[in-house]
Amino acid sequence: MKAHLSWILPAATWLGVVPIESRLVGIPTVPFQAAGEGQLALGSLKSIIVDTRFDDARDEQGETLIPPTLHEFAEVFAADLKDALDLELQLSNATDAGQGAIFLTLGESTDEYLDAAGAPTSEGYTLSVSADGITLRGASPLGVWWGTRTILQQAILGKAGASLPYGEVHDAPGWATRGMMLDAGRHYYPPEFITEICAYMSFFKQNMLHLHLSDNFNVAGHYSRDFALHLFARFRLWSDAETLAGLNKYRNESYTRAQFEHMQTACAARGVTILPEIEAPGHALAIVQWKPELGLASDLSLLNISHPATIPTMQAIWAEFLPWFHCKTVHIGADEYTAGAAEYNRFVNAMSAFIAAQSGKAMRIWGTFPPKPEYDNVHENVSIQHWAFFEDNPLRDYIQNNYTVLNSDDSYYVVAKWSASYPQSVDFRRTFHGNPAVSGGGLWYPHIFDQKDASNNPPSNSSKVLGSVAPLWNDYGQNASVVSEAYYAWREGIPALGDKQWGGDLAESEFASVLNALRSKIPGQNLERSVTSKSSKILEYDFKAGATNTAEGQTQLDDLSGNGYHASTDCPSSAGGGGGLAISSDCVVKTPLSSKGRNYTLSLDLKVDKLASPTNTTLLSGGDSVLMLTPHITLFASGSYYRLNSTVPLGSWVNLSITGKGRQTFATVKTLGRKRQDRGAELQLRNDDDGKREEFLAILGVLGQFHVWAPVAIEAPLAQIGGEGSGWTGQLGSMTLTSEAL
Ligand SMILES: *[C@@H]1O[C@H](CO)[C@@H](O)[C@H](O)[C@H]1NC(C)=O
Ligand SMILES: *[C@@H]1O[C@H](CO)[C@@H](O)[C@H](O)[C@H]1NC(C)=O
Ligand SMILES: *[C@@H]1O[C@H](CO)[C@@H](O)[C@H](O)[C@H]1NC(C)=O
Ligand SMILES: *[C@@H]1O[C@H](CO)[C@@H](O)[C@H](O)[C@H]1NC(C)=O
Ligand SMILES: *[C@@H]1O[C@H](CO)[C@@H](O)[C@H](O)[C@H]1NC(C)=O
Ligand SMILES: *[C@@H]1O[C@H](CO)[C@@H](O)[C@H](O)[C@H]1NC(C)=O
Ligand SMILES: *[C@@H]1O[C@H](CO)[C@@H](O)[C@H](O)[C@H]1NC(C)=O
Ligand SMILES: *[C@@H]1O[C@H](CO)[C@@H](O)[C@H](O)[C@H]1NC(C)=O
Ligand SMILES: *[C@@H]1O[C@H](CO)[C@@H](O)[C@H](O)[C@H]1NC(C)=O
Ligand SMILES: *[C@@H]1O[C@H](CO)[C@@H](O)[C@H](O)[C@H]1NC(C)=O
Ligand SMILES: *[C@@H]1O[C@H](CO)[C@@H](O)[C@H](O)[C@H]1NC(C)=O
Repeated sequence: MKAHLSWILPAATWLGVVPIESRLVGIPTVPFQAAGEGQLALGSLKSIIVDTRFDDARDEQGETLIPPTLHEFAEVFAADLKDALDLELQLSNATDAGQGAIFLTLGESTDEYLDAAGAPTSEGYTLSVSADGITLRGASPLGVWWGTRTILQQAILGKAGASLPYGEVHDAPGWATRGMMLDAGRHYYPPEFITEICAYMSFFKQNMLHLHLSDNFNVAGHYSRDFALHLFARFRLWSDAETLAGLNKYRNESYTRAQFEHMQTACAARGVTILPEIEAPGHALAIVQWKPELGLASDLSLLNISHPATIPTMQAIWAEFLPWFHCKTVHIGADEYTAGAAEYNRFVNAMSAFIAAQSGKAMRIWGTFPPKPEYDNVHENVSIQHWAFFEDNPLRDYIQNNYTVLNSDDSYYVVAKWSASYPQSVDFRRTFHGNPAVSGGGLWYPHIFDQKDASNNPPSNSSKVLGSVAPLWNDYGQNASVVSEAYYAWREGIPALGDKQWGGDLAESEFASVLNALRSKIPGQNLERSVTSKSSKILEYDFKAGATNTAEGQTQLDDLSGNGYHASTDCPSSAGGGGGLAISSDCVVKTPLSSKGRNYTLSLDLKVDKLASPTNTTLLSGGDSVLMLTPHITLFASGSYYRLNSTVPLGSWVNLSITGKGRQTFATVKTLGRKRQDRGAELQLRNDDDGKREEFLAILGVLGQFHVWAPVAIEAPLAQIGGEGSGWTGQLGSMTLTSEAL
């Protein structure tokens, strides 16, 4: 089958024309032509061979300015095969495939693969599987990369172990821009989270992460001028440039140039481009807090464009950061500006000309003031990100006036944790349940802005539709959610949207089982913070049992779970023996683990004798959270303290357990009595134990007007007990971790 019609296939499937064998179920689904009955077992392969002729080739067509070479993509693929399938293939270069290899090569031209609009795309690929091996031929190295995702997915889903059916996949995306937007302005996400999210997205063939890098709480009329000048507002890029001194006051919640470089490179290594947004002239309170004279008196989060320093200030900011960005397009935000359209248009055009002159980059804005005959309108080379029909009609206002439009319609909006208008996770079922009366039948695709009224949608082959990006907003700031809750908000949304953004035709009935089968194998990330374990018991230390090995002052503490997660310590056994380890700031217990995500129960038997600083004691720290006494039992995560009313009584043995159960986190404290038995010390519950479970809650502030209490899902800290700065002395009896929410 010669299908530059590859993306048309799903269209035919809508009509029920294409037989089911002509696709492979994956996310996205891929068009497939079988060649006989057989299956190629990946275990029988020996190597990955990169076509020497194209070893250094790069895709120049995509959004990124730092495209990896074919060889670099091949290296990541080889590591992924090891991670996901425990398959170790030798990576080498040669001019032909030979036997038993995955041969990675490029086609003659990109014209072989067409997108939904019928334009050539460099992201297409052909995968040929036979008894001899696999040939993966891309329109570019990026096309090859997407083909490697197909190999991994099909091998994971393979019914006969890691195997692929004989035949050919000829596949290309319908739309060039496929991805998500993260509001990193009103919530800080560490660089590692960004790169892990890129890995998750990439597995489902999404290629863009739009990072919203500055924003603030809604000001409009809620606060006095002085209050607004101190309201929560953040600008997340950190520069030492003197011209920008004072713009960003929060270094520990910002990206340095080196970090931004790392994030862009790590995401590009998996085919994902980071597209940066610095927002103005609305949502610009961070800039007004820096230069108050630039704010509009009626709403300090809006810039006064008429002020002679406003445009030069924004240009100075962009002049500093443009060289950081390895992307052909940048975003200046420009939404929800409620002052005049004429000044707004002047601002947008001035920024577009400046950015083009400085860097040659194109510019994007959110749909805000659609073109009108009476204005000097936003120039057509500024692309428009449509988000709401009350702002614009993407077809009539923009596409019919020759603007290109990215579909971010708020039907897929998410607001972290709570909102009066939007859901807390992607409403992914919409991707399967379009209105049958609308073009595209029962499914959603990026050209469908309106699932109710087809007259608002361009045809699927419109060249003006860039693709789709679905945002997550953090309207209620940092303490509303912890970092990983953004992943859970997107966990189903990324794959469901990814399928349709590519042009796949996955059915709702297929979705859950395919995603479940794939999810635990997605390489390059461990967003769920899962820990490999032989049984539900992940970890068990009995610190009273003493050491097995002692060398150079370090004692090994055996993990009794059978998983071999032995800890080490330089803490002494407590005086008199039988009481476990004597903990202080002078010694430390270290485990080989860092963090465990939902579900879990973490239990510690311990006796806290003294707190050096009653409001700042660290019992146990990990990669995503810290268990503290402040003196209330507290989990510190993502920069916020989640406090309970309970405390831990001093001088008594207690069993403190933390439970992560779905979206919730709980703690229980039971006071324990000591009872001597013949064979060593045992701990038993005393009669006066309360043992009442208390829930950690996020307390969101809404527009300075009221609070919302909501569950929060915090990972268990596992890495370290005691050590410098921990601030307590006492004894540690045992520590256990299970994968069950008890
Ligand atoms: C294969 O490609 C890599 C990366 O370009 C290069 O360093 C290496 O020398 C090549 N090996 C062979 C055998 O050509
Ligand atoms: C905006 O700035 C101009 C020039 O400085 C000034 O004349 C005008 O009053 C300002 N407008 C508002 C609403 O602050
Ligand atoms: C977009 O159009 C403006 C106005 O004509 C121009 O100054 C700018 O260079 C163009 N941008 C690009 C990336 O071509
Ligand atoms: C859009 O562009 C086409 C081709 O350049 C041109 O013929 C047409 O007049 C333009 N339409 C509008 C509304 O500007
Ligand atoms: C888009 O497809 C329609 C048929 O659905 C066809 O009439 C039209 O010519 C196509 N437009 C382009 C630009 O290919
Ligand atoms: C950054 O530092 C401030 C001030 O010390 C602290 O309150 C905040 O929690 C820190 N943020 C993070 C994400 O750790
Ligand atoms: C702590 O106690 C207060 C007052 O009784 C109660 O409103 C609140 O819900 C408790 N906090 C938690 C986290 O249970
Ligand atoms: C501590 O509490 C946990 C959870 O309730 C329980 O599984 C464990 O057995 C308890 N340990 C002791 C020594 O009581
Ligand atoms: C965690 O527990 C909740 C509530 O019992 C359950 O719905 C969910 O499936 C569990 N999640 C995992 C990952 O086991
Ligand atoms: C979280 O921050 C909001 C401000 O956004 C504040 O009103 C609220 O009290 C904070 N919650 C806690 C528990 O500190
Ligand atoms: C708590 O103690 C740690 C370790 O000494 C220190 O780094 C941190 O700044 C302290 N936090 C506060 C809020 O005092």
